Amino acid sequence: MPAEDLRQWLDKVDQIGELRTIDNAHWKLEIGAITTINWRRSPCRALLFDHIPGYPSGYRVLTSSLSSPGRLGLALGLSPRLSKRELIQEVRQRWAEWDKTQSKYGITPVKSGPVLENVMSGNGVDLERFPVPLWHEEDGGRYIATGSAVVTQDPDTGATNIGTYRAMLHDKKTVSYHISMGKHARLHLDKYHAAGKPCPMAISVGHHPLFMIAGSLPLPVGAEYNLIGAIRGEGVGVIKEEVTGLPVPADSEIVLAGFSPPGRLEKEGPFGEWVGYYVSGAQDRPVLEVERVYFRNSPVIYGAPPGRSPSDASYQQFVLRAALLHNQLEQCGVPDIRGVWLNEAGGREFVIVSIKQRYAGHAKQTATLASQLAMGGGFMGRWTVVVDEDIDPTDTNDVLWAMCTRVDPVKDIDIIRRCWSSSVDPIIHQPSKSAFNSRAIVDACKPFEWMNEFPPAVKVSEELTREVEAKWGRLL
Ligand SMILES: Cc1cc2nc3c(=O)[nH]c(=O)nc-3n(C[C@H](O)[C@H](O)[C@H](O)COP(=O)(O)O)c2cc1C
Repeated sequence: MPAEDLRQWLDKVDQIGELRTIDNAHWKLEIGAITTINWRRSPCRALLFDHIPGYPSGYRVLTSSLSSPGRLGLALGLSPRLSKRELIQEVRQRWAEWDKTQSKYGITPVKSGPVLENVMSGNGVDLERFPVPLWHEEDGGRYIATGSAVVTQDPDTGATNIGTYRAMLHDKKTVSYHISMGKHARLHLDKYHAAGKPCPMAISVGHHPLFMIAGSLPLPVGAEYNLIGAIRGEGVGVIKEEVTGLPVPADSEIVLAGFSPPGRLEKEGPFGEWVGYYVSGAQDRPVLEVERVYFRNSPVIYGAPPGRSPSDASYQQFVLRAALLHNQLEQCGVPDIRGVWLNEAGGREFVIVSIKQRYAGHAKQTATLASQLAMGGGFMGRWTVVVDEDIDPTDTNDVLWAMCTRVDPVKDIDIIRRCWSSSVDPIIHQPSKSAFNSRAIVDACKPFEWMNEFPPAVKVSEELTREVEAKWGRLL
């Protein structure tokens, strides 16, 4: 059996009752607005838009793909019936296995695959043949790549990276795109351009969710295909794309391939960004001159438009990052971590770790590391809060209660200055290439020296809860 593709995953999502098909929504703002409203609905189902006005039926756009533990679980080959905390725990355990086995996998070159069903080439390339949404009202254009898998190679080592980065239609044959400083594809691009050469690039804009999951995690260069292979338990079938030579997923829905030439910049943006603002405005950015487009019959664009969180990809990002940050902290030798969460409103900008305090300085050590590790607040972090074990880090009210009652700001908040930020950080006025920001480290634990004298918390004990639930629960 070949590995599951996007369509098989969608069938499973349908079987658990979490897929809604919507016909006749317009690419111009309607798909984006429906998606944004959907994020705040409970349950938040996956949406598959079809019969998009002006486009052939069957040319579809998927959004809200991974906004539930069930769908994220299915994408990772896990049970769709886990709660958020169980899913984090399961990912932590499985990750260790995937990590151990991933060097066995990687790519399996194949000669053909569904993505080759249709090809546009040279002058025949027309990206407007796809129902590319205009996602937000202030966007400067239609974004074909949001939940993308961008394939690039390091010109020095040949290592292949997959990254999730956005790209906007410039014209029928060109997209302009935004890749932040320090991101892997950006490093590849800069190396090619420094040598005066065009950078080969392939952008998959529809694929199994694992490609976006791997593409949006800060993994080492070359790790993404291996990880996907390890999760699937087999090498990822790839086709050597003809004009660039890049390995592209054989079961992708749509792949754009071409070159990003040095010196050519076009306007990109504004775009409603994941921080919840149109931060970057319209800027001159690099372009991909598309020479080939490969696509399946009835192709699906994998949409993951950002916006004010919770947004399309925030849930999957934070479950995975919480699991992986927990593992990273343990690998750094931090003992007795009881839970990790990245609050969905702030994302990596609001990292919470609960610990059982064992020694003086345990909380500060945990917070400082969590504020800098890649899975935590390393890139564009802001707040890192450490709480005691009686606080559920995934419960915002619990966390705020600890911050309101166990923190004396003058001694419990430290600031780390000149950390890694980004041009999309809304608090930086006119960010340059050197975009720094600071991290607030909040020790919201009971003061270690006298934690045993801290006033007892008002609560209903577990024993009394059990008794009254048995007697009165039916009335509540
Ligand atoms: C839906 C989505 C869209 C994203 N868009 C961008 C983007 O346009 N530019 C960017 O630099 N990072 C973007 N990111 C974050 C990167 O995917 C993330 O930093 C990832 O680690 C990049 O891969 P790399 O570590 O191989 O560079 C996006 C993430 C998600 C989930």
